[in-house]
Amino acid sequence: MSRGEIKRLFEPESVAVIGASTTPGKIGYSVVRNLRNGGYEGKVYPINPKADEIWGYKVYAGIGKVEGPVDLTVITVPAALTYDSVKEAVAKGTKYITIITSGFGEVGDYETENKIVACANEGGARILGPNIFGVFSAAGKCNTTFSANNILPGNVAILTQSGALGIAMIGKTAAANIGLSVMASIGNKSDLDEADCLEYVIRDDSTKAILMYVEGIKDGIRFMDALRRATAVKPVIILKAGRSQRGAMAAASHTGSLAGSDEIFDAVIKQCGAARAETLEEAFNWCNFAANTPPPKKHNFVIITNGGGIGVMATDACETYNIPLYDDQNVLKEAFTPMTPAFGSVKNPIDITGGATSTDYNLALAASAATKEVEGVMALYCETATFDTENLTPMVKETYKKHKELGKAIVYALVGGELVSDSIRALQKDGIPAYSDVMHAVSSLGVSYNYQNYIAKKHDAADWAKIDTAGINSIIDRALADGRSFLLANEGSDVMKAAGVAIPGSEVAPSLEKAIELAEKMGYPVVMKVVSRDILHKSDAGGVILGVKHKDDVIAGYDTIIKNCKKHNPKAVIDGIEVTEMVSAGTEFIVGGRRDPAFGPVVMFGLGGVYVEVMKDVVFRALPISRDEARSMVDSIKAAKLLSGVRGQAKRDVNSIVDTIIKVSTILNECPRITDIEVNPIVVYEEGKGLKAVDSRIMIAK
Ligand code: COA
Repeated sequence: MSRGEIKRLFEPESVAVIGASTTPGKIGYSVVRNLRNGGYEGKVYPINPKADEIWGYKVYAGIGKVEGPVDLTVITVPAALTYDSVKEAVAKGTKYITIITSGFGEVGDYETENKIVACANEGGARILGPNIFGVFSAAGKCNTTFSANNILPGNVAILTQSGALGIAMIGKTAAANIGLSVMASIGNKSDLDEADCLEYVIRDDSTKAILMYVEGIKDGIRFMDALRRATAVKPVIILKAGRSQRGAMAAASHTGSLAGSDEIFDAVIKQCGAARAETLEEAFNWCNFAANTPPPKKHNFVIITNGGGIGVMATDACETYNIPLYDDQNVLKEAFTPMTPAFGSVKNPIDITGGATSTDYNLALAASAATKEVEGVMALYCETATFDTENLTPMVKETYKKHKELGKAIVYALVGGELVSDSIRALQKDGIPAYSDVMHAVSSLGVSYNYQNYIAKKHDAADWAKIDTAGINSIIDRALADGRSFLLANEGSDVMKAAGVAIPGSEVAPSLEKAIELAEKMGYPVVMKVVSRDILHKSDAGGVILGVKHKDDVIAGYDTIIKNCKKHNPKAVIDGIEVTEMVSAGTEFIVGGRRDPAFGPVVMFGLGGVYVEVMKDVVFRALPISRDEARSMVDSIKAAKLLSGVRGQAKRDVNSIVDTIIKVSTILNECPRITDIEVNPIVVYEEGKGLKAVDSRIMIAK
């Protein structure tokens, strides 16, 4: 199927409904009604062995009896009849089949589900579902859902894995005055999935923003590709269930697909330019704003408020969403002093105080419009007794218009009682971004602002390092021949050397004499570590001694390590003792990677050493990545400040971390037999002085 071809699923010229019914309340009845009431202009063929006419359409006893071609067949017969119905639809030559019927993969019957897909695909047809509530497209005026209400046409596309939630979203979006361009329920994803549906909404001119509800992704690589192409042209907001372990289990059983690891999903969608919402309300607000409000392309924002508290809340929210607040005190003073009482504030947030009237707001917002340095506004209002509430709606309308004409983004948070709520409803009806909560206003602006930054940024192609792949492969060959699924410490060091990652000087001594010779040559202090295929966790076995400062300590240490390890595992074969240069103290980080079942190879960076597990300050990216993306990983951990030199320390060598992330990515990409890699700790020195990868753990598989 070529990318554009899926259009016929959304805009068919003819639709057959197998299981159409004359009985109100049945799904087969509602689908035909919705086609009729939605104004569908193509041909409708209800299929039912007993009826003559449904909703004014002539009924056919079987799809084979329909005279003309059928683009789309909707199936609403019970599960036991579905395979035969699909077979008949395929024989008729239908191109797309949507199966509303439940009772397949989601309850464990993958056999029938697979049989249905095989039958369709062999006959050149594609399946959406089963277990869906249907598809709607405004462009095709085609509503094949069984929704109870008409769908309000508009410019937000919803793709949802949960059908029931989709039905609820139709009602909720209509209540929030959000019109839909597309609504597609994806269900069990037995054949077509969200990536296929994205192909349609990417090309659908009426869609201005996309909302996806996702539980689990089966083919992450295809999903990322479609998502990247979608965000290149329109904003995508994703609501994903399954953040908690229990939620992930529920999602898996609900849809019959495995929910991928949530941290990786989160990282991947952000990497592809999508925003993740936590709640339905957040998702609707963000989509509505992104679809209907001129995008905030500029950077200098001001907060104008009559309440100090909501001003502080908005300031906090700006930090969360990386919205830069304008800070030139001279400009702010000149612009906002005339309407600000002496006890207010002209620092950003501009606090025109609780006594402000609609006239004061008009003046302040006229000033933000007229001041060229101010490029975007968050106007906040707390209901007060002094404010002339009857003028609230006209004031917002007027000031919105003024900012819009000047290309300045503006968003309103209006906090108050019934009168304020009425005002918000009226403003939203006119497409004005007015919200009842500061967080809704600022986050809607922030998500749009961050999206603008994403599309303005050049997304470089992949960067790879030059590594000795053949050398690494021969290390893996030997370890596999040895029956191991992991590399020994010295083999891990050899992999690092082959990839050009700096490691402490180190060599394996098969005897005490050699250990002394190596320590003297390297210079004290040194580290001594056991080398044994039978001991994976060397420290736990007493197989590591740090800070060995003298020849006598080498002699004593050698004996202690052998004794400890023999005690830990009497059968352990000890190949020798690794003598390693002792790395001087520095800030410790981790670079790692693994193969995600859905998204393929992913690379990780974070705060390392012994705090990895406790702090969990790590970020992921799916491969491939550019050096810029690797740099953004470094900047996005919470401990990033440690690298810019805290408390008088010198800046750390960030370039060498970026190099290491790219090198580990290259290892994962070029050596598919490596399943997991963890380079930890990595001690990072001052700028220009590089880093040392102290230890690495590498797991392999045939
Ligand atoms: N060809 C065409 N129509 C046929 C048929 C055939 N071979 N065999 C039966 N029918 C007709 C029936 O006669 C009936 O029409 P009628 O009301 O005029 O008698 C119609 O198809 C529907 O069959 P029925 O047995 O009444 O089923 P139903 O409407 O009670 O339930 C489903 C069918 C698909 C709705 C039900 O099995 C189901 O899966 N429900 C869950 C759907 C769901 O929730 N999906 C996910 C949404 S999120």
